[in-house]
Amino acid sequence: MTENTNTLMDKLAALAKRRGFVFQSSEIYGGINGFWDYGPLGVELKRNIKEAWWEDVVRKRDDIVGLDCSIIMNPRVWEASGHLVNFNDPLVDCRKCKARFRADKVFMVVVKDGENEILRAGVEADTREQARELATANANSKTRRRLEKGGEGLSWVIDRAERLSSGTRASLTLIHTEPDGSKFEEGTAPGSKCPCPLCGGELTDARKFNMMFKTFVGAMEDSSAVAYLRPETAQGIFANYKNVLDSTRLKTPFGIAQIGKSFRNEINPRNYTFRSREFEQMEIEFFCHPDEADRWYQYWRQARYDWYVGLGLTSSKLRLRDHQKDELAHYARACADIEYEFPFGINELEGIANRTDFDLSEHQKHSGKDLTYFDDETKQRFIPYVIEPSGGVDRAALAFLCEAYTEDTAPDENGVPQPRTVMKFHPRLAPVKAAVFPLVKKEGMPEVATGIYRELQKAGLSCFYDEKGAVGRRYRRQDEAGTPFCVTVDGQTLQDQTVTIRDRDSLRQDRIAASQALAYVRERLGR
Ligand code: GAP
Repeated sequence: MTENTNTLMDKLAALAKRRGFVFQSSEIYGGINGFWDYGPLGVELKRNIKEAWWEDVVRKRDDIVGLDCSIIMNPRVWEASGHLVNFNDPLVDCRKCKARFRADKVFMVVVKDGENEILRAGVEADTREQARELATANANSKTRRRLEKGGEGLSWVIDRAERLSSGTRASLTLIHTEPDGSKFEEGTAPGSKCPCPLCGGELTDARKFNMMFKTFVGAMEDSSAVAYLRPETAQGIFANYKNVLDSTRLKTPFGIAQIGKSFRNEINPRNYTFRSREFEQMEIEFFCHPDEADRWYQYWRQARYDWYVGLGLTSSKLRLRDHQKDELAHYARACADIEYEFPFGINELEGIANRTDFDLSEHQKHSGKDLTYFDDETKQRFIPYVIEPSGGVDRAALAFLCEAYTEDTAPDENGVPQPRTVMKFHPRLAPVKAAVFPLVKKEGMPEVATGIYRELQKAGLSCFYDEKGAVGRRYRRQDEAGTPFCVTVDGQTLQDQTVTIRDRDSLRQDRIAASQALAYVRERLGR
């Protein structure tokens, strides 16, 4: 992470805490790594994200229904799904400082000038490019200057610590820096140990670590009572597929959608809420005929990308990236990630996968229950293929927070431009839709303002009444909360029953009839 991205994330985290978006879980006891709480504004933001998703993928469609499953399920579910065997992350420990890392997120970077090694470092990163950047930034000043100038004549060796375990001949990537930029070239080099990213000590070999949280059901704490907190909501959908089919008149293609908590004992939770141990997922399992799976995969890939753009993530920061064969999960035939350019790097927001008939076939095998689908029209019996758009609520919330965070200037009461921080949320996601102020706390203004506030509140809009302090400061507070509209009752209101409505982004103030305030806000919210 560079100094700038750090600063932006630090500023965002400070605002999120100060204004009640995100708090560290159990902060008064020093917190707990990988767990986060959402404050009064954060919980509204999260609910709005979930409601927008539910409205768009369930309520507005004829072919998708909802479901709400238990978090703890029969442990045989996880045997069938492959999670007991395959849901592992590679883990390495530092023998010296005892720090623990996900081996696929630690890279060894070696830079050579001919035979001479001028840099050897371990860095935590998501990609080789990032590893290269970080290693350059952390190098001693002489080496850094040389690398920043293009590093002509130097050769780089970069590989994941996971692949550098002893016993395997590490397959390394050589990057020859060319004068016109850098060029990646696959090659091999003998394996070697990766230094610890924190202290430079020696890392252990990578070993597998199952990420499911274990618990016990009932009074006995023996192996027969072991159960797991679900690591994805998807399996509850597969386990209920027959129940949903039998209780509805759905025909393929159809989908089942679920929003709920998932838990993963991540080795190294990081980047604020981005990788947490407890998080919420919004998942659709879309069941279709195998012959139509490719078409639906393409459909959902695009539909989910468009959903984020429609809610204000600028398309220049969003991208769709198809997985390489070696990245695919054990159940997937194809997968694309919707990625967002967070201040700490480009990272996954949502994945769209073609899970084939893997899950239903496995559950059929393990449960002994018939999970085939019979098509009345074609008289065909088959196990449907599944296209799965799977997104994280917390990741979406983080992306919307990052996108919304803006520093600009706005005139104060005297018309002098002042710096302001404003959260430019899409109105559909804004935690508070409108704030209502009396200009002063006298002359009947609070009574009129309270009337408007109650009217908005009764209409189901999340709104806020504020009569404390200078009006400019009240605007600033709402800007930081991301409130799109501020309704102000002033002297003129008492004469002609009009109010001003200030737009958060353009700062334009419209004067309208007080009786029209609700209609004005509703129209702009599209409700
Ligand atoms: N059912 C498929 C599945 O769970 P995944 O790529 O492991 O696939 C889907 O997770 C989404 O869940 C991710 O794109 C991300 O938004 C969210 N997610 C996964 N792990 C997470 C974590 N540790 N913290 C926050 N969100 C996470």
